[in-house]
Amino acid sequence: MKLPQLRIGNLRPKYPIVQGGMAVRISTAPLAAAVAEVGGVGTIAGTGMTEEELRQEIREARRLTGGIIGVNVLFAVKNFARLVKASMQEGIDFIVTGAGFSRDMFSWGRETGVSIIPIVSSARLAKLAERLGAAALVVEGVEAGGHLGTDRPLGEILPEVREAVDLPLIAAGGIADGKDAA
Ligand SMILES: Cc1cc2nc3c(=O)[nH]c(=O)nc-3n(C[C@H](O)[C@H](O)[C@H](O)COP(=O)(O)O)c2cc1C
Repeated sequence: MKLPQLRIGNLRPKYPIVQGGMAVRISTAPLAAAVAEVGGVGTIAGTGMTEEELRQEIREARRLTGGIIGVNVLFAVKNFARLVKASMQEGIDFIVTGAGFSRDMFSWGRETGVSIIPIVSSARLAKLAERLGAAALVVEGVEAGGHLGTDRPLGEILPEVREAVDLPLIAAGGIADGKDAA
């Protein structure tokens, strides 16, 4: 099966498959590096870590692979800015963030050359993210559970977002377990 090419800034992963950030030390360096090493996109979840712990995870992932590695931090956490800035200093490839929306992270991304990928569940937020300089978007519907503020399925939201923006879109939520019908 020919899969479409995913673009994240200048990055072109071999496969358009992104491993999600799962906090509470699930998406740490070994998982992210294993995915990146075989041509997917690895994500370290920084939520719940200290800045120093996250720096160590990033360094460990970089030691394990030369593949594409990003960091997910939920906007809602107290040390959000510190975690994002530390990740950028460590030379991470991208930042994914959800559970709220930071305008500031786009200027930090511009200053450091790190791609910003917000998680969105509406065309309205997608347009705002595009205007602010997002490199790509994760689009999640109700199947993803958690911190979304939507009760609409991905199959409804995704076409609206596709229509609204020109950015690469990463559909998420219920894909692997077949809950989503999109
Ligand atoms: C244990 C666990 C921890 C999670 N932690 C995070 C997190 O830190 N940040 C985040 O954005 N999403 C988090 N999520 C949500 C998933 O990443 C999100 O639901 C995923 O994109 C949905 O994909 P799937 O349903 O196809 O697996 C977590 C999910 C699980 C199960």
